[in-house]
Amino acid sequence: NGLEPATTVELSEEQILGILEAVWRRGDAELEKALYAHANAVTNKYCGGGVYYRGLIEFSNVCQNDCGYCGIRNNQKDVWRYTMPEEEVVEVAKWALENGIRNIMLQGGELRTEQRLQYLERVTAAIRRETVAMDLAKRAESGAGAPPVLPGGEEELGVAVSLSVGELPIEDYERLFRAGARRYLIRIETSNPDLYHALHPAPMSWHHRVECLQNLKKVGFMLGTGIMVGLPGQTLRDLARDVLFFKEVKADMIGMGPFITQPGTPVTATWNELYPAVDKNAHMRSMFSLTCTMNALVRLTMGNPNISATTALQAIVPTGRELALERGANVVMPILTPTKYRESYQLYEGKPCITDTAVQCRRCLDMRLHSVGKTSAAGVWGDPASFLRS
Ligand code: 5AD
Repeated sequence: NGLEPATTVELSEEQILGILEAVWRRGDAELEKALYAHANAVTNKYCGGGVYYRGLIEFSNVCQNDCGYCGIRNNQKDVWRYTMPEEEVVEVAKWALENGIRNIMLQGGELRTEQRLQYLERVTAAIRRETVAMDLAKRAESGAGAPPVLPGGEEELGVAVSLSVGELPIEDYERLFRAGARRYLIRIETSNPDLYHALHPAPMSWHHRVECLQNLKKVGFMLGTGIMVGLPGQTLRDLARDVLFFKEVKADMIGMGPFITQPGTPVTATWNELYPAVDKNAHMRSMFSLTCTMNALVRLTMGNPNISATTALQAIVPTGRELALERGANVVMPILTPTKYRESYQLYEGKPCITDTAVQCRRCLDMRLHSVGKTSAAGVWGDPASFLRS
């Protein structure tokens, strides 16, 4: 294609749309192969060959929102609602450190109460305090010297805390930052405001969500966002604009996953009406490919953010996450949520690893990386290069 290997490419909306149409709609296999090879080269250049682990702890499924596609939305019936005891969350984070995972993501349903905020402050602070102490003790014991200092000036000690807990006022974001969280993830879900409003009943609003993304940047968080691919009503142009949206908000971390049906949700009812006769497995596999193409395009245009090979990819193709790691992604998220809660954090049907333990998820991922010739960059925070350079 005439490009130097591993260079990023500036693409317009029309050009991105053109690639999506050629690769996905017209099935241009040669272009697809070239796109993935290039994306992988850019990944290796900006992120090194190592894959970062981000341990996911789904600490609560209590949610006040009613996102039309989600299996833990407020109005979803027959869901046992839980919030993990604080000590249990901290224990999982300590286990993560002992197992070479230095970065955890606390994800939960959205709840804008003072009680929930204080829970998050206490858990975040305790994870930082206790894992830093563990780390210092281990360094002293082994005679290791001073800990590594990151370009931002922070010592790489203990487990870094990322949060995925939704839309909050900026004051709350500031409190969570002061408690020690450094990364925050809110998927925009779609950059098309009309589509967003069709999926998220009021009072949720697209503009408010964008304001939250901007506020998180202002507070100093590394910013994560993302979308779902294959939402009913979504067009290829929407997806092309999503790629540009990530650039516009200067996202440091991006997670994209195919939309997967979940019985009992309004969006799945719409989906069933729209596609009454479709071969669902074939459709989902096609969304899997489209998501991979999107990952590759984001890598190609943006270069250095952390891009996650999301769990939803694996729900469709058993080796989905490994494939994504060869096509632009550089992060995987082993699920560390204790097994007894997993079944109740079913955002979509067929979510994998529901009966597994953290030990199994950790080992299984090591094997999966090995199968595609990648290794985990264990023992580092794995800050997104985009953030370190900005
Ligand atoms: N299919 C795929 N992804 C989903 N999410 C929620 N429900 C579904 C679904 N049915 C994703 C959303 C949310 C993230 C936590 O999970 O993008 O931001």
